[in-house]
Amino acid sequence: MKRIFIALSLVLMFCKSFAQKAQYLANKPPMGWNSWNTFYAGINEQTIMSIVDSLVSSGLLNVGYSYVVIDDGWSSHQRDSLGNLKADSVKFPHGIKYISDYLHDKGLKFGIYSCAGDLTCGGYPGSRGHEYQDALMFAKWGVDYLKYDWCYAEKMNAQESYRTMSNAIHSSGRNMLFSICEWGNNQPWLWDSTVGHMWRTTSDIIATWYDNKIDSSGRLGFLKIVDKEENLRAYAGPGRWNDPDMLEVGNGMSESEDRAHFSLWAMLAAPLILGNDLRAMKPSSKEIISNKEVIVIDQDSLGIQAFKHRSKDSIDWWVKPLSDDGWCICFLNRSLQKRMISVDLNKEQIVDSVFHFKMDIKKHSYIMRDLWKHKNIGLASSAMQVSVLPHDVTMIKLIVKE
Ligand code: GLA
Repeated sequence: MKRIFIALSLVLMFCKSFAQKAQYLANKPPMGWNSWNTFYAGINEQTIMSIVDSLVSSGLLNVGYSYVVIDDGWSSHQRDSLGNLKADSVKFPHGIKYISDYLHDKGLKFGIYSCAGDLTCGGYPGSRGHEYQDALMFAKWGVDYLKYDWCYAEKMNAQESYRTMSNAIHSSGRNMLFSICEWGNNQPWLWDSTVGHMWRTTSDIIATWYDNKIDSSGRLGFLKIVDKEENLRAYAGPGRWNDPDMLEVGNGMSESEDRAHFSLWAMLAAPLILGNDLRAMKPSSKEIISNKEVIVIDQDSLGIQAFKHRSKDSIDWWVKPLSDDGWCICFLNRSLQKRMISVDLNKEQIVDSVFHFKMDIKKHSYIMRDLWKHKNIGLASSAMQVSVLPHDVTMIKLIVKE
C-alpha cells in the first residue's frame, strides 16, 4: 500500500511539474487578429462576426492570419450557478460556441481570453481556482487559443499559475495555443518551455512611435518595445515566441511608422496579431499587413529573432538569418530626416554569436531584394547607397542566386 502511495505521489509530482503543450501549434509565430487594440471591452457578436467576414473577404486569411481572438470583456460579471464562465448575454446573445462555430466554418481558429487572477484586468471573473473547469468549458466551446492575463494575481506565483492552466488545457483534451500575458514581469522566457507557446515581453503597446514619458496606463510606444527585445532573442524559437504585443498598424501612426512597426515585428519573429478594425482599413494599412514578402521573413522556419548589427546616426541595422542560407537586413530610421547609408557587405563582419551564423557573401552569390518596393536592387557583392525615409525602414532580403 505504502509503495502504491509513493508511486502515485511520484506520478502526481511529475504531472505537476511538467505541463504539456502541443508544440506544433506554434512552430511558426502565430498570426491572427485580436479585439483589444481597437475595441477594448466594447465587443459584441455583431462586431466579431463582421470582423471575421472582413478577415476572409480582404484576403488576410489567405496570407496566414488564421486566429480570431476575443479579448477581455466577453464574459458576464457573474459565473453561473455551477461556477461556469458564461458570456455576457447582451453582447453575445447566442453564446460563445455560436461565434466559434461561425468562424470555424470559415476556416479560422478561435481564441479567447482569461486571467490567472481573481478578476481579469477589465474586472470580469478570472480563472483562479476554476482553471480546470474553465479549460473544460473552453474546450467545449472549441477554443484553439487562450490568452491568459495576470491581473488581480497578488501573492500568486506566476510560473505555477501558468503551469496550472497549461495542465488544465492539457487535461481538457483539446489542443490550445497558450499565450502567456504577464508582461515579462516574471521572465517567462526563463520558465521551462513546456508551459506556453508565446509570452508577452513588455507592458501594453500604444500606437505611438516613441513616447518619452510612459503614458498614464503604463503603455509603451513602438520603439520603446523594440529596444527591449534584443536581449531576449536567445529564448525564442519554434514553439516558443517572445511576444512584443499585438500590432497597432492602422491605429494611429503614420504609414511609414506602421511599415516600420510591421517590419520590425517580422524581423523579431513576433506573433503577428492584428489589432485594427478590419472593416474600415485604409488601403495602405491593408497593403502593409498583407505584404507576403515580409510575412515570409516573420514565418521563416529557422525561427530566429533578428539581432542588431549596428546602431549609428539614428539608423539601426537589424539582421535575421533565414533558412536556405538567406538573410534579411532591415535598416530602421529612428530619426525624422531621410538618411543615405553606404552599404558594402564585403567590408562587414555580420555574425550571429547566439545562433552561430556568419554572413559569407563569397560563399554564396546573393541577390538583394527590396521587400517593400518588391524589386531586386543588385548583388550583395557590390557596394551601394541605400536610402531610408524618416521613421521608416528599408528591408532587404539576401536571396541565394541559383
Ligand atoms: C492587459 C493585457 C492587454 C489586454 C487587457 C485586457 O492589459 O496586457 O493585452 O488583454 O489586459 O483587459
